[in-house]
Formats: sequence, C-alpha cells, structure tokens
Amino acid sequence: MKRDTHSISIIGLGYVGLCTAATFASRGIGTIGIDIDHERVQQIRKGKAPLHEPQLDDMLKTAVKNKLLDATTDFSGATDTNTTFLTVGTPSGRDGSIDLSFLKQATIDLGRALRKKHGYHLVVVKSTVIPGTPTNIVNPILEDFTKTKVGPSLGLCANPEFLKEGTAINDALHPDKIVIGASDKKSADRLTGLCKRFYRGKLPPLIITNPESAELVKYASNAFLATKISFINTIANIAQQTPGVDVGTVAKAIGLDARIGELFLKAGPGYGGSCFHKDLQALINYSKKNGYNPVLFQATEETNEKQATRIVDMAEKLLGSLSDKKVAVLGLAFKKDTDDIREAASFRVIGQLRKKGAQVIAYDPMAIPNAKKVLSDQIDYANNPRSTIKGADCAVIMTEWEQLRKLKPKDFRSYMKTPNIVDARRIYDPEDFRELNYVAVGLGQRNPTGPQQVSRVP
Ligand code: UDX
Repeated sequence: MKRDTHSISIIGLGYVGLCTAATFASRGIGTIGIDIDHERVQQIRKGKAPLHEPQLDDMLKTAVKNKLLDATTDFSGATDTNTTFLTVGTPSGRDGSIDLSFLKQATIDLGRALRKKHGYHLVVVKSTVIPGTPTNIVNPILEDFTKTKVGPSLGLCANPEFLKEGTAINDALHPDKIVIGASDKKSADRLTGLCKRFYRGKLPPLIITNPESAELVKYASNAFLATKISFINTIANIAQQTPGVDVGTVAKAIGLDARIGELFLKAGPGYGGSCFHKDLQALINYSKKNGYNPVLFQATEETNEKQATRIVDMAEKLLGSLSDKKVAVLGLAFKKDTDDIREAASFRVIGQLRKKGAQVIAYDPMAIPNAKKVLSDQIDYANNPRSTIKGADCAVIMTEWEQLRKLKPKDFRSYMKTPNIVDARRIYDPEDFRELNYVAVGLGQRNPTGPQQVSRVP
C-alpha cells in the first residue's frame, strides 16, 4: 500500500468501516483496514466487498488495484498510519444497553500495537457509543496499553457517522455535516486537517465540540428520525379511521412547512435496520440509568412495534380469519435495495401471521438467503412476485422494491385466489386498485356515497 503522512487505518471492516475505508482510498489517502475475520480480510484484499452496498465493490476493486487500500488481521498495521478509526460494532446487550466488548477489545489491541510506535497518533471513535464512552472507556484503555497519556503524543476524537444503507458511499462523500468531538485542540486540528484533505477544500459544515456532545448528536439524529416515522405512522393510523383521508396528502402538506420538512414522513409498517431500534434502546437505557425516563422515545419504540399488529389486523379484517390462509409476503428486507433483514418489520408481521395460523410464502429480490438463516423452513419462499401470489388468499406488501411496483391489478386478480391486498408501503395508486380488495396504511376507507380522495399526491 502507498503510505504517506496522511495514511489512515480503520479497525472493524463491517458496513461502516468498509464504506469509510473505500471512500478514504478513493480520495487518494492510503488506507489499511484491520479486522479479526481472516476470511473477510482475504476477500477485501481481492477487491471484493463481503456485503452488498451500491458502488462499494467497484470502489474496493479500484482502491486495491491502485494500492491505496490493503486489509490485514494484524493490528500492528495501524503503526504505519497516523490516524486510526474505530468502527467496530456496538450491539445491544440483553437489557437493550450498549455492548462495548468489541470496542474495548479493539482498543486494547490497538493500544498494544501503538506502544511500539513513535510519533503522534490520533484515535477516532466512529462506532456509535453512548456519551462518555471515549473519555471514560477508550481513553483509560488506550493510556494503559500505550503507556502514553492522551495529549501531546496521543489524540482522541469522537466522529460519528450518518451513513444510510443503500446510499452510504454518497453519504460519506457528501455529508450534510461533520461532527468532531475532540478531547483537545491538537486532536481537533489533526482530524480537521484530514477532513480538509478528504473534501479537497469543499468542507461540509463542521461542528467541533467535546466527545460527549458529538456522541449525543448521533443518538439525537437517529432518535429524531425514528420519532418522525412513528409520528407519521400515528397520523396514518388516525387517517385510516377517517373516510376519504390519505396520509400521503397529509404528509405532503405538512412537509412543505420548512419547520417540519418532507423527508422521513412515509408511513409504513414501522422502521427496521441495524440502527434505529438499537440506538433508541441504548439511549433509553443510558438515560434511565442517569435517572431520567425519556417517555417520548419509549412511545416511539412502542408505536413502531405495534405497527406490525396494525398490518396483520388489516389482513385479518379482509379475510375474516387467518387460520390456514395462504398469505404472500412481498418484501423481506428492512428497506429496498438491500439484503439486510435486521429488525425488518416483515419479520414482526410474519411472526404474527404464523401465530394466527396463516401459511406464509415470501419473496424478496435480495434478502431470501438471509431470511432463510433466520426462518429456515417456517415459511415458504418464492422466486418471483407472481409465483408468490399464486393461489394466495392475501398479499402483504412489506418492502418498497421497484420490482413490486410493476405488479398490476390484473396480476393480483388473475394469480391470487382472492385479490386481498394489504399495501403496508403505499406503493400502489389506490385508484388503480379500487376494484380489488385493497387496503393500505393511512388510507381511510372509501365513503361509498361521497367523493373519493379530495386531493391526490402527484
Ligand atoms: C439510518 C439513518 O438514516 C442513518 O443516518 C444512520 O447512520 C443509520 O440508521 P438506515 O438504517 O440505513 O439509516 O436506513 P434509513 O433509510 O434511515 O431507514 C430506516 C428505516 O426507516 C427503514 O426501515 C425505512 O423503511 C424506514 N422509513 C424511513 C420509513 O418507514 N419511513 C420513512 O419516511 C423513512
């Protein structure tokens, strides 16, 4: 790998670490990735991404070919660089609290390696961690294992990421902001310098603060976004009780208010993914331990959990009983364009459908291999949307895949036993489906005598 004074290392080559590594290398900054998983490291060294993310494979290939990216299981690789980002996972513990064991071990391994290094080294915590972790956990471990005090020779920063799956590369290259939580001025200056090099003079808005505030920015962002989704799902459920009302119209109108904003107002089956649930639980747990119960976030989570029951209720209402009915679940991934099923609403819905005696057959363009690891033969799997709905009593749309949008009313009519459709993602135009038994999240039952929708969302 080409090394210069700006070379960096990244510990933990999961989703965040790998996307961060690929983007650093794409900006000509020599990057060494470190991970304890030998197989993963070998794959990356061949320029192949071990996970699905648009653009990542191409970027890795180019970076490896240009000798700007290398990967290793040897932590001493960090000593050839000047900055190390910690991007290991911080999963939930049993009680929802954050599990810092990977971060602690990575810091120990890094500390041991850095002990042999001469010259300044900056350590940056990018993993999502509760406020106080860099100062109270990472700092003492580092000092203990490097035998160096954080200060003139050893820097420490928190630098949370805001990457979304599916657009992570673009998010890393063009972030809305950069948040640096520095333990001292030298650390802040070093990381700012690296950012200037990365963004080639076009630095995004930069917030420099202490590590604790930086960590809370990350939790506050995810808590706000999750709450926005539970808010619109609440409005959707109210809209659904009101004839002629469509939550899409309501969301469009309120989103035009600059104070509210149009994004994250899509009603659906509830949020999934690796971050929102985990981070909210960690934040609630952290806050409660400090003596404050954040009831708003409890309600955000509860609303999200119950949204699955709303979807199952809609199916049950259409069918009378779900017992021995064939229900086609279209979409398993937690959102489109990913094979990630972590915390996906589809699994909450499938669990409840099965409890009520339904036979579930599911389709997803990418997530079936991952789903099989969890559900194995508890449900059936289909190869395409049409074979999924064939002979089904009900179809439930759980992920907003483009491929599913292409299904026409005539497909449901001709393939299904009875065309009962629960559109949990609002991918179809209700007007096109009015002849079918179509119900959707946030769509008030039509009033047979009065006008239909007063307005339509273009
Ligand atoms: C999220 C944050 O957006 C990102 O900043 C953070 O770093 C990690 O967590 P991600 O989990 O990749 O990113 O997905 P995101 O696009 O935010 O969607 C999360 C969930 O919310 C998905 O299940 C999605 O379908 C759902 N969602 C999103 C809605 O139901 N309605 C919306 O309007 C937006």
